[in-house]
Order: sequence, then structure tokens, then C-alpha cells
Amino acid sequence: MKPVSSSVLIPFVITLLFSFLWATSAHNHEEFLQCLTLHAGNSTPSISQVIYTPANSSYSSVLEFSIQNPRFSTPTTPKPLVIITPLHVSQIQATIKCSQKHGMQIRVRSGGHDFEGLSYVSYVPFVIIDLINLRSINVDVENGTAWVEAGAIIGEVYYKITEKSRNFGFTAGVCPTVGVGGHFSGGGWGTLLRKYGIAADNIVDAQMIDVKGRILDRESMGEDLFWAIRGGGGASFGVIVAWKIKLVHVPSTVTVFTVNRNLEQNATKLVHQWQYVADKLDEDLFILITLSAANSSQEGRRTIQASFNSLYLGGIDNLLSLMQESFPELGLVREDCSEMSWIESTLYFAGFPSGEPLDVLLSRTPLTRPNFFKAKSDYVTEPIPEVGLEGIWERFYQKEAEKASLVLVPYGGRMSEIPESAIPFPHRVGNIYKILYLVNWEEEGIVESERHISWIRRLYTYMAAYVSKSPRAAYVNYRDLDIGTNSKKGNTSYRRASTWGTKYFKSNFNRLVHVKTMVDPTNFFRNEQSIPALSS
Ligand SMILES: Cc1cc2nc3c(=O)[nH]c(=O)nc-3n(C[C@H](O)[C@H](O)[C@H](O)COP(=O)(O)OP(=O)(O)OC[C@H]3O[C@@H](n4cnc5c(N)ncnc54)[C@H](O)[C@@H]3O)c2cc1C
Ligand SMILES: *[C@@H]1O[C@H](CO)[C@@H](O)[C@H](O)[C@H]1NC(C)=O
Ligand SMILES: *[C@@H]1O[C@H](CO)[C@@H](O)[C@H](O)[C@H]1NC(C)=O
Ligand SMILES: *[C@@H]1O[C@H](CO)[C@@H](O)[C@H](O)[C@H]1NC(C)=O
Ligand SMILES: *[C@@H]1O[C@H](CO)[C@@H](O)[C@H](O)[C@H]1NC(C)=O
Ligand SMILES: *[C@@H]1O[C@H](CO)[C@@H](O)[C@H](O)[C@H]1NC(C)=O
Repeated sequence: MKPVSSSVLIPFVITLLFSFLWATSAHNHEEFLQCLTLHAGNSTPSISQVIYTPANSSYSSVLEFSIQNPRFSTPTTPKPLVIITPLHVSQIQATIKCSQKHGMQIRVRSGGHDFEGLSYVSYVPFVIIDLINLRSINVDVENGTAWVEAGAIIGEVYYKITEKSRNFGFTAGVCPTVGVGGHFSGGGWGTLLRKYGIAADNIVDAQMIDVKGRILDRESMGEDLFWAIRGGGGASFGVIVAWKIKLVHVPSTVTVFTVNRNLEQNATKLVHQWQYVADKLDEDLFILITLSAANSSQEGRRTIQASFNSLYLGGIDNLLSLMQESFPELGLVREDCSEMSWIESTLYFAGFPSGEPLDVLLSRTPLTRPNFFKAKSDYVTEPIPEVGLEGIWERFYQKEAEKASLVLVPYGGRMSEIPESAIPFPHRVGNIYKILYLVNWEEEGIVESERHISWIRRLYTYMAAYVSKSPRAAYVNYRDLDIGTNSKKGNTSYRRASTWGTKYFKSNFNRLVHVKTMVDPTNFFRNEQSIPALSS
């Protein structure tokens, strides 16, 4: 008898397996939908108004609307079985309950800016809770606080605060379309960090839903869980519905400047010198650097451009004398500077042209269409020598780096005063600055993607000698799956998770594991970089 060749059998078995998996998930998904209807109660509008399956014509547009990295929006990217855009907390509770009952994973999405798409991609059958409809903001000027729902974007937060009072602002990110759900739970830095710390440092209460579907606030969740959600990264502990934030004071006049220097204008020396002053400057003064390749004034030649971008919480005269005292090498002159209100400075940093109406802050559509990108982060504790910087410049001349940049974000000031264990975000005293590495590209396809990702990985390898060590620290809001992951199917091991966990959280990782074990012992809320529970 002629044996059946395995090359004939394997495709057959695979087909069988897939149709079996598909049938099971389709079946689960029917029951899941029935379960939602059953558990959602009779809130109006009813839950059917906020459920999208691939059979609904608007499924794709709802899915794609908040995707900020098109790397995770291709035909081969796994898609959710269902998207729910709750209008009521009860609809979140029902989704948590029914997902557990019918073997679905949950991905929670607020602004969709996750660098690795974790808020809307999973390799197991999953549903998305998209908080886009839960975005009210209530500012209490008298008490200097605000309740902000997780689906709001930070531009809306800035706008609504200013609407109530020009003396208040908030310390959070530069890009207005970032969602507060992910951003505040992972830290959230912006131009006010040297004065007031990061967003997570200024949260005073929260409302969240845990794995049992309970609605918790600071008092009922307890201080351990309240500690964990302020910087421990979204998504490991439950669904955050709203934050109560402490507003910060801003003066009526601030000053901004952007000074560009290329290699022919001593950029190397200036970047080198900046490392000795950036974290020691007056805490009202924030100067970041963006580095990128640029055309030289000499025909056909490339150079490196260092763009010094600054916010000063005061007027031009004071700024000029501060700069003369602490960083005269930059050669800042009055003509480089503009005075404006704090809210106008948020538009300036977001890249809007001057004179733009403030309500552009309310738009969830970014100023420029997002490209494919890959990013990584590092912390610098000793100034990088000039020869080290020159090695970066060489890599910027490679053709994959045409749309690459490095952003150097100064620490010091308030950042150094807050103890490392105050919240899970541990990057405090001893850090001069943080580096964001970013490479963008427009060309589609896996080959282009691999080329650019390989460029940024080579640069990261090169930088090892110059950045923090043991652990080589990273910022959880700059999610990077290269530094380690849980298994794709979701099992987590403490040891495996420690490799990336200690980079993001240093010794706070252990306390995060302890809290996770307490509040979600079966590890229901999980993803490629969620905090593991010890029992699982
Ligand atoms: C263009 C751009 C600019 C950025 N600028 C800055 C910046 O200036 N400063 C800075 O610090 N960071 C910045 N970031 C990074 C940003 O802070 C993180 O990507 C942040 O996590 C985004 O939050 P989100 O709600 O938009 O993202 P999402 O993709 O919706 O969520 C990110 C993570 O949090 C989880 N999550 C989201 N909402 C909830 C919730 N309600 N409850 C529980 N878990 C939740 C998600 O499941 C996911 O794991 C930027 C990112 C981009 C793409
Ligand atoms: C999606 O389709 C289902 C079935 O037709 C319907 O009940 C539901 O209301 C639709 N969802 C939305 C948001 O319109
Ligand atoms: C200020 O806070 C107190 C205590 O929480 C509260 O009772 C009061 O209503 C708040 N003020 C305003 C204007 O909301
Ligand atoms: C570069 O620095 C040198 C001294 O370090 C100075 O003489 C020169 O004017 C600077 N060039 C520019 C373009 O600023
Ligand atoms: C830089 O120079 C190249 C080739 O000379 C040109 O194609 C490109 O458009 C220039 N880029 C900018 C930003 O001016
Ligand atoms: C996950 O863990 C469970 C329990 O320890 C185990 O039975 C299962 O095989 C693991 N799955 C994977 C994919 O490792």
C-alpha cells in the first residue's frame, strides 16, 4: 500500500484545524453577544447601539479611527470579533463578565497611541472596549481639580481647563490626540515635567472596574491598587473609567523658542554642552533637543540638525538673562523668542501654526497623517562624549534614517525630588535625560518595515555603551516589545516578565506583581507586556 505523503496531509490537517477554531470562536461570539444583551440591563440607549461586529458596515471605520500606527492596520493584522464603544459603565461591566464566560480576551482602547498596537491587536480571540464615548471632563476651579473620563484626549483636557481658568494647566504630553486612559496610566510627560512631574504624579483619585466587574474608587480599591494604576501601564489591572487630577498653576505669560543648529554651526558641541546643564536649569525652564538628518547649505551634502525647543514659565527678559547665565553657548537672542499664553504654547509644541484657533485641541485626528513607525527609549545618566554623538550622526546618514529622529527630554527639577517608589514610574534622581528613538517610513510592506526596524535596533545596540545599565531602563508609554514579552497566547511567568518589567519599573516591578496577584489572580487582564500574577 502506498503511504500517504505527509506533504498532502499537513495542509489538510491545517485546514481542518482552522475551520474548527473559526467555528468555535464564531460560536462563542454568538453566545457572547447574547450574554452582553442579557447582562447590560435596560440602560438607554441599549447596548446593541454600541456593538460592532464585522457584519456592521461601520466596523472597519470604528476600528481604524483610533489606530495611530498603520504597522498594525494591515490585512494580516488580527482583528477583534467585536468592538464595544460603551456609553455607560454597566456596558463595560457586562463586557468583562461575558468575556470571561465565553473565553474572550479584552483589549481596552482610549486614544489608540500604543506604539505596538496592544490596545487593538491580539493573537487570541478578542474584543475591544473602545472608550471613545466616555470622554466628559469636569473642571472644578475652586478646588483646583478635574474629573476626566478615560476616553478624553489630552488636548481636550488642556482646552477645558483653559475654558474655566487661564491660571491653571496640566502636566501631560505634547501631542494633543494622546488618550488619557493609556497616557496617565503609563506616566505622561510633557513640557511641564521639570516643574510639576508627570501626569501620573498629579492623579488624586480614579474610577475603575476590576475583574469581578466592581466599580472602585480610590477608597474602595485601596492604596496598593491606586498606586499601581498610576504609572504601572494600562491594562494589567482592569478598565479605568475616569481620573481625578490635580491642576497645576501656569503664569499668564510664557515664552517659547526653537533654535536650530547644524554641524557647521557647532551642533555637536552644543548637544554635548546641553547635557551638563539641561537637568540643572531653573525648573521653570525646559529645553529639549530633537536630532535628525537634514540637507546642508552646501549643495548636495547632508548634515545633522539639532533643534533646541523650549518652554519658559515667564517672560522674555528673565529667560534671556537665565540663558546668558546657564547656556550662553546656544547664542539665544530676543528674536528667537515669543511670548504667549500657556494654552497657546501647547499648540506651538504640537506643531500648529501660530494664530490657529484653540479648538484644534479638540480634534482626535492628528495634524499629519501617521506613518509606519517603530520607537524605543533609553535613559542617560552620564553625558555622552562627543565621539559617542558622532557615532549617532553616522547612523543618521544611512538611508533608512531619512525620517528618523531622536528626542532628548531633560529631567531634573521636580522629577528628581519625587522618590523612585512614590508611583510605579521609577525614572527619577540620577537621570539627566531620556531618549526617544523614532523611525518613520511611508513605503508599505514587510521588507521596508524590516529595513527600518533593523536600523533602529542597530542604533539601540550601538547606544548600549552610553546609557543606563542594569537594568537598561525604558519608558513604558514608549512601548517596545523588543525588550521582552510574555507569551503571545498570554501565559505569563514572573521570570520571563522580569526582563522587561525591571526595565520599565526597576524595583517597583515586584510591588506591581504583588498587586496584580491580589486583584487579578487568574490573570484575566493580560497582554504581551502585562504584569504577571504569581499564581498563573
Ligand atoms: C504621536 C504620539 C505622541 C506621543 N506623545 C507623548 C508625549 O508627549 N508624552 C508621553 O509621555 N507619551 C507620549 N506618547 C506615548 C503615549 O503616552 C502612550 O502611547 C499612551 O499609552 C497612549 O495612551 P492612549 O490611551 O492614546 O493609548 P491606547 O493605545 O488606547 O492605550 C495604551 C495602553 O493602555 C491601555 N489602556 C488604554 N486605556 C485604558 C483604560 N481606560 N483602562 C485600562 N487600560 C487602558 C491599552 O490597553 C494599552 O495597553 C505619544 C504617542 C504617540 C503615538
Ligand atoms: C450591528 O448590527 C447588529 C445586527 O444587525 C445590530 O443589532 C446593531 O445595532 C448594529 N450595531 C450598530 C452600532 O449599529
Ligand atoms: C470642592 O471640594 C469639596 C470637597 O470635595 C466639595 O464639597 C465642593 O463641592 C467642591 N467645590 C466645588 C465648587 O465643586
Ligand atoms: C563655533 O564655536 C567656536 C568656538 O568654540 C566659535 O568661535 C564659532 O563662532 C562657533 N560657530 C558658530 C557658527 O556659532
Ligand atoms: C534634500 O536634498 C535632496 C537632494 O538634493 C532633495 O531631494 C530633498 O528634497 C531635500 N530635502 C529637503 C527637506 O529640502
Ligand atoms: C498556560 O498555563 C497553563 C497552566 O499553567 C498550562 O496548562 C498551559 O499549557 C499554558 N499554556 C501555554 C500556551 O503555555
